[in-house]
Amino acid sequence: MGKGKALMIGAGGVASVVAFKCCQNSEVFSELCIASRTLSKCEALKAKLDGGATKVSTARVDADNTAELIALMRAFSPDVVINVALPYQDLTIMDACLAVGVDYVDTANYEPPDTAKFEYKWQWAYREKFRAAGITALLGSGFDPGVTGVFCAYAQKHHFDEIHEIDILDANAGDHGYPFATNFNPEINIREVTANGSYFENGRFIETQPMAIRRVYDFPEIGPKDIYLLHHEEMESLALNIKGVRRIRFWMTFSENYLNHLKVLENVGMTSIKPILYEGQEIVPLQFLKAVLPDPASLGPRTRGKTNIGCIIRGVKGGAPRDYYVYNVCDHQECYREVGSQAISYTTGVPAMIGAAMLLTGAWKGKGPGVFNIEEFDPDPFMDALNRFGLPWQESFAPRLVE
Ligand SMILES: NC(=O)c1ccc[n+]([C@@H]2O[C@H](COP(=O)([O-])OP(=O)(O)OC[C@H]3O[C@@H](n4cnc5c(N)ncnc54)[C@H](OP(=O)(O)O)[C@@H]3O)[C@@H](O)[C@H]2O)c1
Repeated sequence: MGKGKALMIGAGGVASVVAFKCCQNSEVFSELCIASRTLSKCEALKAKLDGGATKVSTARVDADNTAELIALMRAFSPDVVINVALPYQDLTIMDACLAVGVDYVDTANYEPPDTAKFEYKWQWAYREKFRAAGITALLGSGFDPGVTGVFCAYAQKHHFDEIHEIDILDANAGDHGYPFATNFNPEINIREVTANGSYFENGRFIETQPMAIRRVYDFPEIGPKDIYLLHHEEMESLALNIKGVRRIRFWMTFSENYLNHLKVLENVGMTSIKPILYEGQEIVPLQFLKAVLPDPASLGPRTRGKTNIGCIIRGVKGGAPRDYYVYNVCDHQECYREVGSQAISYTTGVPAMIGAAMLLTGAWKGKGPGVFNIEEFDPDPFMDALNRFGLPWQESFAPRLVE
């Protein structure tokens, strides 16, 4: 089994869980360097982790600056870089990985800061360069994207001859007690949920108005919730990688309260990403809103309830129709007791650590170098690791379906 050094970029909500989990898996992660633009956050995190078998260090880095990243990578010489900063930094970090020759893992695809449009085209454009450099980029190793892609690959490998329909269901029944807060970075979250929805059907994506399609789904261990159709990045890669799939939809729960607040904020212009002049200074309304909203990393102690994220998959096996539901239920308070974070950070941070471990140990090296989405790899070692590192999954062959 390989053993190695990981450089983690970012020191926010998700990064905190990644760091705890790397230290829990010290037989794989011998060293971890926590690097972000605010050094004090890296040091505060390090202070919670010191004393274990994984050696932890910190560094200050501006991940928008490729030269700074290259210098840091040359100084630390990591075996893998785990990017849990923001999607805006994906390309600069990939450029630095190419210059130094080190594997790359992230949890969210690139989006340009001035356009709220995320797609894989920018990162897929690095395929040849990574192949030529002999290094691997694992894209989207969070929960969704991430585990949802692994679930689809696992279903394809073990339970279906052909997959025809995929519904990805993301439910958060957690209550943090604030009138309005987001569970991960508010800027990224609000850009995602105010965008048009979309779904994949018969070879093309169909756009919908934001939150225009609603259903109610009765989730295991959570109960009935309103779910809304959203555009989500893993649909783009699954549409290519799950051969023969005819329809893919992504659903997320939102409370009426959350949507009412969001509507008001949108109506008054607070979710806009177009800079405005305020007292002689340019500000982006959404970035200002982020500054006044609760920090997602602070929600841990207050959030009660569970998440349930999974995939309902329909297709055929041995000539007969088959329905299959695979999902994880995670309890906010249990996550907080274990690593001091709520379940959204937890369900993202655990798979980010596992993805990096898959590369470090060589479990996924058989594919050779290149840029890959997670469902392109063998799902089995990842599914085992989910059970081992705190995200056990459950399955059903007679699920309720989304109408
Ligand atoms: N796939 C999934 O399931 C999933 C789910 C949730 C989140 N995510 C992704 O996970 C990532 C992290 O989310 P989060 O909630 O942890 O966000 P967060 O709490 O805002 O943390 C982001 C971290 O990145 C740092 N950072 C931002 N810009 C930087 C720069 N230019 N140079 C260096 N560091 C920089 C921030 O530093 P400061 O502290 O100085 O601001 C902060 O420590 C995001 O990309 C998000 O989209 C994925």
